[in-house]
Amino acid sequence: MTRERAWETLTRYTQSEALRRHALAVEACMGAYARRFGEEEELYRVVALLHDFDYERHPTLDKHPQDGAPILREEGYPENVIEAVLSHAEHLQLPRDTLLKKTLFACDELSGFVHACGLVRPDGLATLEPRSVRKKLKQPSFAAGVHRDEVYRGAEELGLELDEHIENVVEAMRPIAPELGLRG
Ligand SMILES: [Fe+2]
Ligand SMILES: [Fe+2]
Repeated sequence: MTRERAWETLTRYTQSEALRRHALAVEACMGAYARRFGEEEELYRVVALLHDFDYERHPTLDKHPQDGAPILREEGYPENVIEAVLSHAEHLQLPRDTLLKKTLFACDELSGFVHACGLVRPDGLATLEPRSVRKKLKQPSFAAGVHRDEVYRGAEELGLELDEHIENVVEAMRPIAPELGLRG
């Protein structure tokens, strides 16, 4: 099971550039956290790349991500990967009882929000600081699709201060800014 294989699966099911970029952003964050935690980096990256792999095919909550699970099983992914993928969905109410699951949940919404912050800045993520991310989180009209409660809860469940988590996520995404369509 490799990151390359997961990327291949993702891109076979997902044509949308925005969804591919979302997967890459979450992957960068998960990779950084795996290194920080001394966890298996490849596993974290695979789960990140696959967590929304079926979203294009199943864009509604009655199907995503649960109907993607049998496809992943057929593709030969192990149960721990599938279980982690399923756990990111709030509506399934599965326990986030591992560091892997907590990390995915914590990086999913926040990386999307940080991405949105980077898109409106002339230098992308280069000088983005937690303070300005926090300020934007309090503006409901900015990136309105991002669930604020999930951003706050994600950091909490991971046991991190929000500022530290923001810092980590921004730092992880900076090196791949061009792939994410960001300046700087
Ligand atoms: Fe999802
Ligand atoms: Fe996602």
